[in-house]
Amino acid sequence: MSRPTPGVEVRRVAVAALVRIAEHGAYANLVLPQMLGRSELDGRDRALVTDLVYGSLRMQRACDHLVDRFVMRDVDPEVRAALRIGAYQIAFAEVPAHAAVSTTVGAVEGRARGFVNAILRRVADAPVEFPDDATRLSYPDWIVERLETDLGREAALAALETMNERPEVTTRPDGYIQDTASQWVAELVGATSGERVADLCAAPGGKATALAHSGARVVAADLQRARAGLVASNARRTGTELDVLVADATRPPFRPASFDRVLLDAPCSGLGVLRRRPDARWRLEPDALDRLARLQRRIVDAAVPLLRPGGVLVYSVCTLTAAETLGVDDHLAAAHPELVPLDAPGEPWIPHGRGGLLLPQAADTDGMYVLRVQRPD
Ligand SMILES: C[S@@+](CC[C@H](N)C(=O)[O-])C[C@H]1O[C@@H](n2cnc3c(N)ncnc32)[C@H](O)[C@@H]1O
Repeated sequence: MSRPTPGVEVRRVAVAALVRIAEHGAYANLVLPQMLGRSELDGRDRALVTDLVYGSLRMQRACDHLVDRFVMRDVDPEVRAALRIGAYQIAFAEVPAHAAVSTTVGAVEGRARGFVNAILRRVADAPVEFPDDATRLSYPDWIVERLETDLGREAALAALETMNERPEVTTRPDGYIQDTASQWVAELVGATSGERVADLCAAPGGKATALAHSGARVVAADLQRARAGLVASNARRTGTELDVLVADATRPPFRPASFDRVLLDAPCSGLGVLRRRPDARWRLEPDALDRLARLQRRIVDAAVPLLRPGGVLVYSVCTLTAAETLGVDDHLAAAHPELVPLDAPGEPWIPHGRGGLLLPQAADTDGMYVLRVQRPD
């Protein structure tokens, strides 16, 4: 058999990856590196596969809409994956339509080729039109509705649009890849040399390792043993000294008043980092928000007693919902009125309750919320 042309092989690997993700619930960020590792594609083609898979996952709803105008029957998973990849290239990836169609058709098995070819040609010839913002931007309705309610329509749509773009890779001097927004949050903790700092939700260790570079003595804890292991290996890799332990932040195993600073980078819905996790928007359930907000309030309550007089608590989440930002701030203000809010960060952050919100569109970063409060002396 002759070797397939690289363009076809790129589409073949992308189709196979999408099928595994759609059919077996596999995570894109785990499946893709494995499949690329087994392929013989060079670096450029691997980047292309990654863009096709991540792009078609992000834009899945929009792609299905473009395709389903012409598909009148159920199609098998491989054909569905090929149609999504084809539509993504035609509508969103600036691949010339004829190249997108011919390479994608070449990547499917014999009998389905004619069908995929006919549908993709029709997609290429028809105008790109959508019935509403959620379809156009390719999110579940509930995410668009929630963020429109919480942020206002204009800010929500701009945030959702930004999170459809490919994230930039930012690498710290120690080699750790970390988004600028997370680097800012670590800086906002304000740790200095010799201070005792607890990071109670620490894995994989991006912020904990950054805090330790200040010379502070950092204790990094996480609920999950395997994830705490990630903190330890990231610390070794970056030459960072810190103590790692497995602990539940709702019951932290530390003496009262034993820390100068406590960072709670809490588990959250992740609605600020969707550009990094292309399949997350389809996995998240709307009722997770309430459960997460309850957990966040419990974690905050448990952390307050750990502050020494004058100590600072920093609460952060990589999401934009009111329940997980303003709601936790309201709770903290009511339950711990003695805590004094510190200045919210300035631009590109915007004031949000007593904290600051970083919208993804403000500086082309992940979306984040941060709140800093101090125990009086
Ligand atoms: C947003 S991530 C932290 C990211 C990390 N700070 C960084 O910068 O790399 C939240 C972490 O909280 C952990 N977690 C969830 N529930 C927890 C709990 N009850 N106690 C401690 N950690 C928890 C999760 O395992 C996850 O690693």
